[in-house]
Amino acid sequence: MGTKVQEIKNKFLKAIEGIKDAKSLEDLRIQYLGRKGEITNLLKHLKDMSLEERRHAGPMIQRLKIETEELLNKKLSDLAKSRGDISEIDITIPGKKITVGHYHPLSIVEKDIRRIFKAMNFSIVDGPEIETEYYNFDALNIPKSHPARDMWDTFWLKQSVPDPRLLLRTHTSPVQIRYMETHEPPFQIIVPGKTFRFEATDASHEIVFHQVEGLMVGKDVSLANFKFVIQEFFKRLFGKNLEVRFRPSYFPFVEPGLEVDLQCVKCGGKGCNICGNSGWLEIMGAGMVHPKVFEAAHYNPREWQGFAFGFGLERIAMIKYNIPDIRLFNSGDLRFINQF
Ligand code: PHE
Repeated sequence: MGTKVQEIKNKFLKAIEGIKDAKSLEDLRIQYLGRKGEITNLLKHLKDMSLEERRHAGPMIQRLKIETEELLNKKLSDLAKSRGDISEIDITIPGKKITVGHYHPLSIVEKDIRRIFKAMNFSIVDGPEIETEYYNFDALNIPKSHPARDMWDTFWLKQSVPDPRLLLRTHTSPVQIRYMETHEPPFQIIVPGKTFRFEATDASHEIVFHQVEGLMVGKDVSLANFKFVIQEFFKRLFGKNLEVRFRPSYFPFVEPGLEVDLQCVKCGGKGCNICGNSGWLEIMGAGMVHPKVFEAAHYNPREWQGFAFGFGLERIAMIKYNIPDIRLFNSGDLRFINQF
């Protein structure tokens, strides 16, 4: 049987070499592997053999069959290739999708805010995230051991020589002082940046968050100007006219100090789950710059006046996109991030 198999194999190898087209290749396939093909016949004859013979011949013929099939397939694709109708690239395979990156929701909102204030002639300024006690507190009229310091839970840096004492800024207000020290009024700036508070986190509090500070100083800059600027800002940010209201409040670096509420973006003031049925959203702290703050920056408080404000970037983004939990921003959860 071994010689018979070898014979057929040699004959086949010789025949396939001379094949030049698909039609004769198919004929060759039928001649060997067709219903009455030579290899098929060998397989058919296995049942007439003794068990002993079958054990020997069976695998041999199977191997021949497999080899023959492989050679036929290879020849077929060689023929097609040389004719040029199969290229290496299968243009029918669906392409790989390119995933395009995009901005984080906080970046989108920050860009919007920068654009809007820039259009109103504000400059964009930044300052250090590691601050001195002086800029974060003292210069802002928040003296050491004054209970007002408790408004800001502070991360203090471990220092071998605490001079000056360093901390992670608890708000962007220190940049008010830094800017005024090196610039002459009149001016108007915003300061978007990262801030830190040593607090427990929950749905509306994060240890690391962002603020946008605003400061406008001139000869006669007033709260009326502030009201216009901030109303215009919200109008452009949310794309509709929204009322703002001022409530008296306390921050050591402004006098008078106020809390700014924005007419609820969702219900328009009727009361809903977003505004806790009040119709208003607490949105920022603000006020007229305190004379002590001007003095710290070496401005004459009798000559200059202006307003300052500060709001949380996350809070604005949460309102704008209806995000229920501040912790989602840094969760790294793509199901959240990919919605923007
Ligand atoms: N810095 C204040 C805060 O973090 C906000 C504020 C800024 C209030 C400017 C008044 C004026 O709470």
